[in-house]
Amino acid sequence: MSYPGVIQQYRSLLDIPPHTSTVTLLEGDTPLIPVPALADKLGGGFELLVKFEGLNPTGSFKDRGMTVAISEAAGRGVKTVMCASTGNTAASAAAYAARAGMRCIVLIPEGNVAAGKLAGAIAYGADVLQIQGSFDDALNLVVELTEKHPIALVNSLNPYRLEGQKTAAFEICETLGSAPDWLCLPVGNAGNITAYWMGFKQYHAIKSTGLPQILGVQAAGSAPLVLGHPVEKPETIATAIRIGKPARGEQALQAAEESRGRIIAVTDDEILAMQKMLASNGIWVEPASAAGLAGLKHEIDSGRFDPHGKRIVGVCTGHGLKDPEIVTRGFAPKTLPSDFQAIESAIAEME
Ligand code: F0G
Repeated sequence: MSYPGVIQQYRSLLDIPPHTSTVTLLEGDTPLIPVPALADKLGGGFELLVKFEGLNPTGSFKDRGMTVAISEAAGRGVKTVMCASTGNTAASAAAYAARAGMRCIVLIPEGNVAAGKLAGAIAYGADVLQIQGSFDDALNLVVELTEKHPIALVNSLNPYRLEGQKTAAFEICETLGSAPDWLCLPVGNAGNITAYWMGFKQYHAIKSTGLPQILGVQAAGSAPLVLGHPVEKPETIATAIRIGKPARGEQALQAAEESRGRIIAVTDDEILAMQKMLASNGIWVEPASAAGLAGLKHEIDSGRFDPHGKRIVGVCTGHGLKDPEIVTRGFAPKTLPSDFQAIESAIAEME
């Protein structure tokens, strides 16, 4: 029997209404990949694993929550769903809405959505609108529009999104037999960190798996939770987390505090360096997805964090294919004649 998707797998642990009518792409069950060479690069003496959420059906962790949000909406006859998005939520909502036979409208910030995400939303048939504003502006508009019209909001303000996303914490506990010592992950609108903490607490209450400390990581140009105030014009190369006013900011701060963890910021350079380090371990993630582990490196390097003897999980939230331009820009492969000698000497030169 193939894995049934997160709703069927964890139904008894999800707080969802009886009318929920499952719409799934068999999301979840993503690998927890050991990366010992990366741990050594960061100083060694600890165990490091990557929860590779980019291997979900639409290439990001959003599918875990979207299956639940769309299934709940489908069960009460919703015809149209809507979200604001930096890209991944849009692609995921579009895919699940398509499967449910619903219309999907997505609002994105002009010029700041990576190519693979926009392509996904279009391919799955969403109505895509871009605004001359930020993600935060788009979310405000979606909240207003969904209050006025019979349209279901499927951003992570929708509680069913978190119900689905918390299943990643269950999977980590099941694979390891207990919670890790630390969990590092990127923070944008702050739904995911909130969902992980919910999931770890719930699983611990049932199975005594322990609780991790949580390291949430924002991009330096978009770090409202670190600065303690909203950021009017958020900037970062990690467009997925280019968010100045996280909808679940309070809960994210609470998760960090309760877990005895913290929320920090890293620069775009640190994010891109970690993206490369992960790729050199065979794991290609989009920039935002490298932020969690970039944060771990930052803390270790600055002496604020002693990883010795710890088991640490880094959540990589989206696949590298989502944002191919980040790695191909400025790269033009050398063009050569179709000639044995020319190729042979070019190979020697490149070594
Ligand atoms: N990583 C990726 C790849 C994301 O797409 C997002 C959020 C996050 C991390 C942060 O998660 O918002 O729950 O704190 N992307 C949203 C979107 C905002 O519209 O796709 P969060």
